Amino acid sequence: MEVRKASGLPIGSGDQAEIGRKKIMEKKCIVARIFRFNPLSDRAPRFDEFTLPYDQGVTILGILRYVYENLDRSLAFRNYHCGARVCGSCRVTLNGKETRACEATVKPGDTVVIEPYDHGKVIRDLACLFD
Ligand code: FES
Repeated sequence: MEVRKASGLPIGSGDQAEIGRKKIMEKKCIVARIFRFNPLSDRAPRFDEFTLPYDQGVTILGILRYVYENLDRSLAFRNYHCGARVCGSCRVTLNGKETRACEATVKPGDTVVIEPYDHGKVIRDLACLFD
């Protein structure tokens, strides 16, 4: 399956910027591999890989919002937040296990694989039909 990469890390020039970038890469970043598929136009699913800065307490939903707002406006996911962890609209498969994106958190240096909660119900990317 194809993997495309993008980064939300600061852009700079020179040695100091390079050193800063490496420090961020080593300690304070998250790599998110996100399932992408449009059944109406794509022949096969792929994963897009995004590297983004770690923010303490960030949830998977926060990661998806960051990617959408800063790296890729074409990402489709259910950007709804009930505030009570009860609606389930944010369900995804995280590293092979179904979870609520608004609840699951990550640690600095984590690599996470985010897929739809049901591949058979994909509308586009992570957005699925409700049961
Ligand atoms: S947004 Fe309602 S459970 Fe996650």
